[in-house]
Amino acid sequence: MAYDSYANVVSSLFLFSCVISLSLAQNADIKLPLRAVNLGNWLVTEGWMKPSRFDDIPNKDLLDGTQVQFMSTKFQKYIAAESGGGTIVVANRTSASGWETFRLWRVNETFYNFRVNNKQFIGLENQGQGNGLVAVSNTAGYSETFQIVRKDGDSSRVRLSASNGMFIQAISETRLTADYGSSSWDDSDPSVFKLNIVSTLRGEYQITNGFGPDKAPQVLQDHWDSYITDEDFKFLSSNGINAVRIPVGWWIANDPTPPKPFVGGSSKVLDNAFDWAEKYGVKVIVDLHAAPGSQNGNEHSATRDGFQEWGDSNVADTVAVIDFLAARYANRPSLAAIELINEPLAPGVALDTLKSYYKAGYDAVRKYTSTAYVIMSNRLGPADHKELLSFASGLSRVVIDVHYYNLFSNNFNGLNVQQNIDYVNNQRASDLGAVTTSNGPLTFVGEWTCEWNVKGASKQDYQRFANAQLGVYGRATFGWAYWAHKCEANHWSLKWMIENGYIKLV
Ligand SMILES: *[C@@H]1O[C@H](CO)[C@@H](O)[C@H](O)[C@H]1NC(C)=O
Ligand SMILES: *[C@@H]1O[C@H](CO)[C@@H](O)[C@H](O)[C@H]1NC(C)=O
Repeated sequence: MAYDSYANVVSSLFLFSCVISLSLAQNADIKLPLRAVNLGNWLVTEGWMKPSRFDDIPNKDLLDGTQVQFMSTKFQKYIAAESGGGTIVVANRTSASGWETFRLWRVNETFYNFRVNNKQFIGLENQGQGNGLVAVSNTAGYSETFQIVRKDGDSSRVRLSASNGMFIQAISETRLTADYGSSSWDDSDPSVFKLNIVSTLRGEYQITNGFGPDKAPQVLQDHWDSYITDEDFKFLSSNGINAVRIPVGWWIANDPTPPKPFVGGSSKVLDNAFDWAEKYGVKVIVDLHAAPGSQNGNEHSATRDGFQEWGDSNVADTVAVIDFLAARYANRPSLAAIELINEPLAPGVALDTLKSYYKAGYDAVRKYTSTAYVIMSNRLGPADHKELLSFASGLSRVVIDVHYYNLFSNNFNGLNVQQNIDYVNNQRASDLGAVTTSNGPLTFVGEWTCEWNVKGASKQDYQRFANAQLGVYGRATFGWAYWAHKCEANHWSLKWMIENGYIKLV
């Protein structure tokens, strides 16, 4: 053997052992299956888990994505974007549903854009040169911006001031114009409308844009610093939890200056989580919960207005977020896994798009670590639970995430305690068994909880429900994660459930 090639062999042996020891350092003591909890409502806001976070926002009932309807008090008819959008705006509807419902884009605490069913914005005709109301523009500019003026003492009585400085009036049932000056609050006044709020969103977009650029950074930082601390990791590790799943939003990759209204600094906070995890021997699953464009339209995807718009055009940007996370955390000994996207929703998210994203996201993680697991969330909605199995089987250290709630479906309406428990023991056991294959990806019940639709259940009922779920989900080969650690609704909080003796893991 020539000296040269001997040296090559030696150096490649050396390299080989470095790779081995790097892998060991990355995953030295990972013991599966994991028993984890979700740190929900920390780095990605979910208002329902702690509503008081929104209390100090002015006009907090008019946040981004709030769905509103307006009834002309003069005609007693609702405003509609005729055909759902793309043409005129009228006021001739006796009842209101999709075409009569508008999603708010909040400019500031009193100025708004109105997005219609077909996604156009209400504005003044002829690019703002005219004063008739139309819903034709695909973007929201000056002539698509309106001020909502609420009556003192009756916030559901409003007038709408247009960009030309005039109020909108229902001049007839088929024409609305922005040309009204003086005004009263009388029913007969054609510029008075009754505001009906249909639904609201309280996610990260809403809280950051609601507080606005001056206040949001401090409000968010204070929340991040206090909601989850060293103490929480200490509590979890001493109560039988050995991992945390941490939802993060795509804007983390743009630290310290993410696009508005998002607030910078969440990557520093996530760094703290890794420090605490290392201190208490807890593993970390980083979960991309909010992808650009929104993969499911839910507030926890950080959507602005509830439209699900993540698709092919977002894949590259989303892979870049995974690349950022993998580069930053691959060498942290606590890193157990990176989850590429949470709860993509079928049919809006197409399977082919998702697979191409999963392959690219997997490759991005593997650039930095060969040992961290890569988690792929099954699609929610009408999708085959086994649709990712053959694709994932070709990849190394991959996990399929399934979410099991005895909620959010009519299946569970009216089920009593025992029927809920039977559902877990039969249906869930069979569903989980079907995705848990011997040569395929590992399985993870990445979200479950002890809340259900049963009214007036006793503590013992909850204990039985918890134990049934722990028994079945304990068969998932990667593990499970309770939703969530902290939540104002007690049964959704593992901390509360442990402290009050409903769940015992040690
Ligand atoms: C709110 O936005 C409108 C429209 O852009 C602007 O004219 C107004 O000055 C803003 N108000 C505040 C308080 O920033
Ligand atoms: C409302 O007015 C538009 C425009 O004239 C018309 O096409 C539509 O049929 C009317 N709808 C009702 C329910 O009257």
